Amino acid sequence: MILDKLNRVIFPWVAIGDQPTQKAIQQVRNNLEIIVAESERLTSLINDVLDIAKIESGKVEWNFESVSPIIILERAIISTSSLFEDKNLRLIRDFSPDLPLIRGDQDRLIQVVINLLSNAVKFTEVGSVTCQAQQNQEYLVIAITDTGIGIPHNEQNKVFDRFQQVGNVLTNKPQGNGLGLSICRQIIEHHGGQIWVESQLGQGSTFFFTLPLAVNLPPS
Ligand SMILES: Nc1ncnc2c1ncn2[C@@H]1O[C@H](COP(=O)(O)OP(=O)(O)OP(=O)(O)O)[C@@H](O)[C@H]1O
Ligand SMILES: [Mg+2]
Repeated sequence: MILDKLNRVIFPWVAIGDQPTQKAIQQVRNNLEIIVAESERLTSLINDVLDIAKIESGKVEWNFESVSPIIILERAIISTSSLFEDKNLRLIRDFSPDLPLIRGDQDRLIQVVINLLSNAVKFTEVGSVTCQAQQNQEYLVIAITDTGIGIPHNEQNKVFDRFQQVGNVLTNKPQGNGLGLSICRQIIEHHGGQIWVESQLGQGSTFFFTLPLAVNLPPS
């Protein structure tokens, strides 16, 4: 918003200003871009920390109902579509339109799939992300597969821990807080499901999670 205002009010003058003025204004503009990016990062950190605290203290009001996995997947896909466009990655849908209903909190499950799709895009430079879902006995299994950097074997369990990021965070790695997957784990475990990853370094990763089907749960 600040940048929008400056673009409209101040930056048109850059075109007619002298060289030193143009340089100074460009410097201000760069600094503002950093401030805006950092404040967005801080906002997302605060939101994630609050979300974890809320879930752990039992203060979240869960809205459990019978929900369609297709709605969950499609809403998450729409929410992340601009990320795919920005990086020119293909999203592949690999699920049948008649999947069984699951019982869960629709918004929270969309949040899980958005987190997994965002990670898949963030850690993939070329190729695609595949979204699969199928029934396995009394569970639905959802899998998000990417063709990205992969995760070393000894790090695969740790990525679900809070603030855990693979590699050296001070070097040139994508930004984040290391909280997304721990929130996903909390949400999935609250649904009686499990979440895990299988990955080959340099070849890609698949994040799986399971959800109990609606029909198998005792009425609440
Ligand atoms: N699809 C993936 N491919 C490769 N590495 C991944 C993938 N998803 C997660 N990781 C690794 O697991 C770490 C933890 O993921 P998590 O989503 O919790 O945090 P983040 O994406 O770094 O930050 P945040 O989600 O809080 O913005 C990541 O920093 C990354 O090192
Ligand atoms: Mg993440």
